[in-house]
Amino acid sequence: DAVAPFNVLMELDKGVLEPTDHTKRRHLSDMHGMYLEEPDEAAGDALVYTVHEIVVPESPDHIQCSTTILQPGRVGREFFMTKGHFHEVRGRSEVYLGLRGEGRLVMATEGGDHAVEHIVPGSVSYVPGGWAHRSVNIGSELLVFFAAYVGDAGHDYATIEDEGLPVLLTDAPDGPRVERNPRYTQ
Ligand code: 6PG
Ligand code: NI
Repeated sequence: DAVAPFNVLMELDKGVLEPTDHTKRRHLSDMHGMYLEEPDEAAGDALVYTVHEIVVPESPDHIQCSTTILQPGRVGREFFMTKGHFHEVRGRSEVYLGLRGEGRLVMATEGGDHAVEHIVPGSVSYVPGGWAHRSVNIGSELLVFFAAYVGDAGHDYATIEDEGLPVLLTDAPDGPRVERNPRYTQ
């Protein structure tokens, strides 16, 4: 699992990595059931977000790094967001560095505690182990951030897939609002 030193160049405002080892794209159809409302048919299968990854061995000796580019948009009153996950190895923590746009980082423990932090250019958010995390684009332009986390963390999407997190980010007349998630029962 030895890796030679290397450099990657990031386009700060686009989140594009050169070179990129792996890119994944999530469309509305990949988010089925995660929003309270179903998307309008007119929205088609819109792109919601793109993740560019620097691939290194999935071991605690390494640090996984990626950029996420979240499109602006809404489904019903909810802003476009990532699926969100716990790390499979619950204790593994992560750091988010905001690069562009305006977002929120919604975090929650399995016990139901929650926290909401801002993602803006220059924000550094610490996601401690045991906290599920989801990013939300509350602005009208791209939200771009860089993430780094312990190599063997893995992703557990299933735990929050059905009920989501304790709170939602909705577009209210007076601005973005943190609302209780009516589907969350814990
Ligand atoms: C990670 C990071 C981050 C995240 C993306 C997409 O652990 O890899 O938290 O890179 O994966 O922002 O979000 P989802 O993984 O929840 O789809
Ligand atoms: Ni993560």
